[in-house]
Amino acid sequence: MTEGATMIEIFPEEQNLPAFCPAPPVEDQRDYLVGGQLHVWDGPLQEVFSPLPVRRGNQLRPRLLGRVPRLDLAAALDALAAARAAFDEGRGPWPTLGIAARRQVLQALRAGLAERRGDIVPLLVWEVGKSLAEAEGEFERTLNYFDETLADLERRRGEDAVPVTAEGIAARRGRAPRGVVLCLGPFNYPLNEAFATLLPALAMGNTVLLKPPKIGVLLFRPLLGLFRELLPPGVVNVIYGEGEELLEPLMATGRIDVLAFIGSGAVAERLVRAHPRPLRLTPVLGLGAKNAAVVLPGADLERAVRECLLGSLAFNGQRCTALKILFVHESLRDAFLDQFLAALGRIRQGMPWDKGVWITPLAEPERPGYLRALLDDALAQGARILNPGGGSALGSFFRPALVAPVTPAMRLFHEEQFGPLVPVVPFADFATIDQFLRDSDYAQQISLFGRDEAALAPLIDSLVNRVARVNLNCKCQRGPDCLPFTGRKDSAVGTLAVREALDAFSHPALVAMRDGREDRALLKSLSTSGRSTFLAPEAEG
Ligand code: G3H
Repeated sequence: MTEGATMIEIFPEEQNLPAFCPAPPVEDQRDYLVGGQLHVWDGPLQEVFSPLPVRRGNQLRPRLLGRVPRLDLAAALDALAAARAAFDEGRGPWPTLGIAARRQVLQALRAGLAERRGDIVPLLVWEVGKSLAEAEGEFERTLNYFDETLADLERRRGEDAVPVTAEGIAARRGRAPRGVVLCLGPFNYPLNEAFATLLPALAMGNTVLLKPPKIGVLLFRPLLGLFRELLPPGVVNVIYGEGEELLEPLMATGRIDVLAFIGSGAVAERLVRAHPRPLRLTPVLGLGAKNAAVVLPGADLERAVRECLLGSLAFNGQRCTALKILFVHESLRDAFLDQFLAALGRIRQGMPWDKGVWITPLAEPERPGYLRALLDDALAQGARILNPGGGSALGSFFRPALVAPVTPAMRLFHEEQFGPLVPVVPFADFATIDQFLRDSDYAQQISLFGRDEAALAPLIDSLVNRVARVNLNCKCQRGPDCLPFTGRKDSAVGTLAVREALDAFSHPALVAMRDGREDRALLKSLSTSGRSTFLAPEAEG
């Protein structure tokens, strides 16, 4: 059998699709949400395809999942106007509602989201190619993010209710919304990372213009009615269409106050530059990364291999936090590669619903070609693919490849592959890693594997100044969400985590007065009367 014929069997024929994860019905979506109304779009639609094709015998055909509106700029500008009107210079019902009441609405939003699990999880599987287990995990994590955010809001309310007195001034602290937030999430975590910015933006009283990613777009439809039902008109507006046509002109209006974007640095830079008053723009950006693992002499090899495998290949390596280059000390190189190869041979490749599967079809149609080009460049310069069949591809399916030795002359040494390629660089001296870190445009995280304290301590002390998180004997990752998730250089601007995100989407605000008896009585009365939501006491709500 040819390789292609073997690989085609990865894709099941229609009659063999599992009943527990059926393909969603193909629908034409014409509705989008602006100003509290579900508008019906009568213009062109965009087709949405699945990375899981239709197979008939030896034929693979694209599987259409549905169509979504391709709004024009006029419709997108209407949505922005609706968000601005709902904010109303901070006077709108949502920004002035107060934390306690907003918290109740967001609690209802969480409940509504939880009810839609059965609609959303299969869409993550069929549109993104994410394993069923990872899709369930993404959904659960989003609910947890709600819970932690709501708990943090409550904590803040308690802290802010205590007046601060100093130097003859008494003040009540709080946070004020920044204005209109443009929320743009990525395809790899389309639900979770949309809510990672949408939720804190709403919690702090902002209004939102949300455009779902091009891949991972269908799962937003079940949420439109929920936003409409629970939030005042114009607080969340959901638009669809070509990012390239809509986003820069939206930014160019100067009427976006916060750009919340998770995706590529090149796009983020274009959007930020399009804003005519950049000093008024708050960017909250989660961008690219090329996180390295460094396996030092004396490392626990079994653990290093297990974590490096998980870090580089879980969800096809399609995570900004994935380990994208492995530096292995020469003394351990052969043993590391042998053990990695053995472990790689055991990981499951297949369809998202297969139990324990790691490697599934890739969501981005252009990704297999890009990975092939990186591989060809590395092979032409002396690297080898160490695992049999590594790097072979059919359609959206790309078999993982362990590639060594990778050198600075190769593209794979520098570029963010965002796919199942595992480059290994043997090193003799840490200077190799120093150079990599110095030259890289990215600086998100690093994983150090080792047990020798004398070697680890100075590395930790310098690396914490160069990347945002040093992981000891474990892979890089975003969670838990109570920890600050950020990066240096071109990897991030701002911090996403429960508490830090609430700060990122708000300004500090104060009501201050001279600490005299009369004014103290006024403050107390304003606070207890319920007339001011900003000054509401802790017990309110
Ligand atoms: O793609 C970037 C994600 O935020 C990474 O999250 O480390 O939990 O996979 P993760």
